[in-house]
Amino acid sequence: MCGIIGYVGKKQAFPILLTGLKRLEYRGYDSYGFSIFDEKGGIFLNKKVGKISEAEKDFLGMDIQGTVGQAHTRWATTGKVTEANAHPHFDCAKEIFVVHNGIIENYGELKNKLINEGHQFSSETDTEVLAHLIEKFLKEKNKKGEKRKLEEAVKEALKLVKGTYGLLVMSKSEPEKIVAARLSSPLLIGVNNGEYIVASDPIAIAPFASNIVYLNDYEIAVITPGNLSLEKERAPEKMEYESEEAEKGSYEHFMLKEIMEEPAAIESAIKGRLISQDGEVKLGGLDSIAGRIKDIQNLILVACGTANYAARTGKYMFEEYAGISAETDLASEFRYRKPILSKNTAAIFISQSGETADTLAALREMKRKGVLTIGVTNAIGSSQSRETDAGVYIRSGSEIAVASTKAFIGQLTALALMSVYFGRKREMAMVMGKRIVDELSVLPDLAQKVLKNSSHIEQIAKKYVLAGEGKGFRNFWFIGRKYNYPVAMEGALKLKECSYLHAEGIAGGELKHGSLALIDEQFPTVAICPSDSVYEKMVSNIEEVRARKGRILAIATEGNEEIKKLAEDVIYIPKTLEMLTPILAAIPLHLLAYYMATALGRDVDRPRNLAKSVTVE
Ligand code: F6R
Repeated sequence: MCGIIGYVGKKQAFPILLTGLKRLEYRGYDSYGFSIFDEKGGIFLNKKVGKISEAEKDFLGMDIQGTVGQAHTRWATTGKVTEANAHPHFDCAKEIFVVHNGIIENYGELKNKLINEGHQFSSETDTEVLAHLIEKFLKEKNKKGEKRKLEEAVKEALKLVKGTYGLLVMSKSEPEKIVAARLSSPLLIGVNNGEYIVASDPIAIAPFASNIVYLNDYEIAVITPGNLSLEKERAPEKMEYESEEAEKGSYEHFMLKEIMEEPAAIESAIKGRLISQDGEVKLGGLDSIAGRIKDIQNLILVACGTANYAARTGKYMFEEYAGISAETDLASEFRYRKPILSKNTAAIFISQSGETADTLAALREMKRKGVLTIGVTNAIGSSQSRETDAGVYIRSGSEIAVASTKAFIGQLTALALMSVYFGRKREMAMVMGKRIVDELSVLPDLAQKVLKNSSHIEQIAKKYVLAGEGKGFRNFWFIGRKYNYPVAMEGALKLKECSYLHAEGIAGGELKHGSLALIDEQFPTVAICPSDSVYEKMVSNIEEVRARKGRILAIATEGNEEIKKLAEDVIYIPKTLEMLTPILAAIPLHLLAYYMATALGRDVDRPRNLAKSVTVE
């Protein structure tokens, strides 16, 4: 989704802004723009539709001077993808420049008022109202009858705005200054010897500063060379961000690199957390609420997209091993529901980025209602990790490809750890805790074994999307039961978003209730059928598909020879505990989506129409 970077210091701003924008590319965008003030009162304003990498050579010959500047990548929400709609947006006199992430919900009403007052708009965006509002308040005097400073005008403008924002503002009247403000959309300020790099994502700051200040909701920061003025003064914190993780290395795509890092994601999630001899798990982020866990009567797991499938798998884990009634919901639905809550309800929010707008809104609603909130997050220092009462970091490292892969594996691993942590504080026997802990300790090796099959999976992927009269298949079912029903949905989502093929994930038992009507030779089914408590039931579902001439690609447990008689193709995963099979089963599905998408020539790291971190509703 949209990305912001700004610079105030002694160095030339352009190269820093360009590097920052390129590092923000992974979030997905359709247009971009810069505004930089030079020392002679001039401005470099450049907005373009398309990819920065394509225009980079055009910048080479330009003399872009200036030590104060801001830049933006736009992912269209209000207004089409055009140069005019790209940020920065400006006022009537082209003196005030705004870059903005988020949505101004009442922009229509504000825009009409401003037009009636004589303002002239040059874009269709909601953001542009901010530039004109600031213009209006800059022209008016403050209560003391003095000329308003830029930050005062920004404050007045934001009082009228309904919605969310992370924004930067520059004005020709105060050319050494950037004013930054946020509400429900992240902004961080990197601090480095009197220079400041302000951005919506630490990835853009990492090459330039290692200490940061997180801007708070409703806070306005004023940044000038050598000075950062915050409403609540505080010292910068050390940024926990591994810059080199954002490099592709020898891999062709980030998505492949991140799938190959899935064993490491499990390893990192369990590191230092397993206590085998006691059958226990150590999760420091839950210590503060440890005493409350045995009283929890029901859990609500809330998330979006892939994280929602992790939540749905977690539900089975918590019910079966921690003995807690658990329900799940999509954050975008949950936030508008009236759930039945008690003082013994706890809500778990799962998010890779920790910045997903719907998940954060659901979290804030639960906090308002006094519910115990627990986060499962990847991004350190994200809004979710700072706002939940307690939490567990999945420690998967930065995930750059838009499609979530290693973070899903990290989320499942963290949920398995949490179900032991919760279970052992309740009725779970030490031997059961030990079984899970010991199996978790070997899981990275088992995951590595799955990856060894990648060339076999690649062949299957190519066969399914390229073979068959040269056309390949365009529709896929993914079926699974119990722990692997959410994994079926994850497999289908990943294939859909990366390859643009149609795929649906469904519970095996649901096929005969309508969906079987679609099955024929051209509509293959990926059946996730490890040797677990529902294996026989899955075999019945596979037979139902075969009886209708449907093709089967099975994900089965090593040693299962019978499945070869039922399936056209089989991908084997090692044996593990039933509750951990989703972690191993998801790996070949991620590879399948990757190889199918690349066989079709798709932009796997940045699928069309999508964004990495969904910071708008
Ligand atoms: C799919 C995918 C998305 C995210 C969803 C939630 O591959 O990446 O469905 O899982 O947008 O994002 P986070 O986990 O950042 O809240």
